Amino acid sequence: METAAFLEDAIQAARLAQGIHRYYQARGFAARSKTVISDLVTEADREAEAAIRDFLLGRHPDHAFLGEEEGASGEGRFRWIVDPLDGTVNFAHRFPFFAVSVALEKDGELLLGVVLDSVHDELFTAVRGGGAFLNGARIRVSETRDLRRALLATGFPYDVDRVPEAVEYFRRVLSIGVPVRRPGAAALDLAYVAAGRIDGFWEMKLNPWDVAAGVLLIQEAGGRVSDFFGAPYRLDNPYLVATNGHVHEALLDRLHDRHET
Ligand code: IPD
Ligand code: CA
Ligand code: CA
Repeated sequence: METAAFLEDAIQAARLAQGIHRYYQARGFAARSKTVISDLVTEADREAEAAIRDFLLGRHPDHAFLGEEEGASGEGRFRWIVDPLDGTVNFAHRFPFFAVSVALEKDGELLLGVVLDSVHDELFTAVRGGGAFLNGARIRVSETRDLRRALLATGFPYDVDRVPEAVEYFRRVLSIGVPVRRPGAAALDLAYVAAGRIDGFWEMKLNPWDVAAGVLLIQEAGGRVSDFFGAPYRLDNPYLVATNGHVHEALLDRLHDRHET
């Protein structure tokens, strides 16, 4: 019962952010650079995080909170992990692929996750042990078993010092002729793996707010999430590989330039 109520709170929080995303897309916004010139932040990022934080902590003052823009606050058994606008570069260029991601941890374990595509109004939800859903309908990962028949996605780091490493991983996967997309919003990329639209995804510079909800979505949709070496994924690891499970080992082999057995 408690979890169902938390899920409703997470959905309401995500809807607040969606309203803010849509308002600024219609009205216009200023974008400024954060870490490097291409890493952007807008009023929508900051206002959406403030709205989510005020709403969730207003309802649960004893919960901890981690948001991308304002960082961590509070302590407790429950911790909300929030990316108020995932895909800010897309948002800033009016490329219609961005989302809000809200997850809740209890005692360090993911309890629920919500990813809401602000443009297409697709609401992805998962509760531990309860399956994954898209707009209320059950979703599952794809059945693709041959990596060469897969559709994959990835992301590239903002930090140019990491570009050679990222390009090398990209080259290794591309070299077997598999199609790879770079949609630009990691939370949604993971939700797409959960929904069976993408068979696998990898990225090497992610933060907990990018992935917390998406990881649970994939696990609840029957997929697998690991680090680059196949170990179970932990939220503090920036290196993530997520697949339908069937192509996981083959994708790890490719990333490490190993020939499949
Ligand atoms: C970014 C997006 C992007 C990924 C970056 C993230 P932001 O999040 O998810 O797809 O490649 O690693 O930082 O900055 O738009 O919230
Ligand atoms: Ca993000
Ligand atoms: Ca963000």
